[in-house]
Amino acid sequence: MREIRAIIRPEKLQDVLAALEKVGHPGVTVYQVEGHGRQAGLVEQFRGREFRVDLLPKLEVRIVCRDEEVERILQAIVSSARTGEIGDGKIFVYEVKEALRIRSGERGEEAL
Ligand SMILES: Nc1ncnc2c1ncn2[C@@H]1O[C@H](COP(=O)(O)OP(=O)(O)OP(=O)(O)O)[C@@H](O)[C@H]1O
Ligand SMILES: [Mg+2]
Repeated sequence: MREIRAIIRPEKLQDVLAALEKVGHPGVTVYQVEGHGRQAGLVEQFRGREFRVDLLPKLEVRIVCRDEEVERILQAIVSSARTGEIGDGKIFVYEVKEALRIRSGERGEEAL
């Protein structure tokens, strides 16, 4: 099993969730996060004043899936979250050792 953590633009959440539903993945957790990528410290204009962008609000979408599902899910996220502008986000993939459905006691892939 793998966990996919996608850091996306907040306004892309509905598109990403719809794309995940299309590829048939049911489980997802969404976190509110703040961060910056390689444009750290960029100075932007806001209401006539200049200020430094240190941390911008993003959403992190986490999905635990079977190994075989990873590529399909990555494609779904990329195609739904991309604008082509800087700050579109980033995706990291991790290994997951165990899963357990609390209600039934099912474990491993059966618990997804
Ligand atoms: N190396 C990283 N480690 C942890 N989080 C990261 C990393 N790179 C980006 N992030 C997170 O992803 C968010 C979006 O990153 P962003 O899309 O700006 O990446 P980037 O590398 O600057 O690419 P781009 O040039 O397209 O903007 C950041 O706000 C931060 O939360
Ligand atoms: Mg960036």
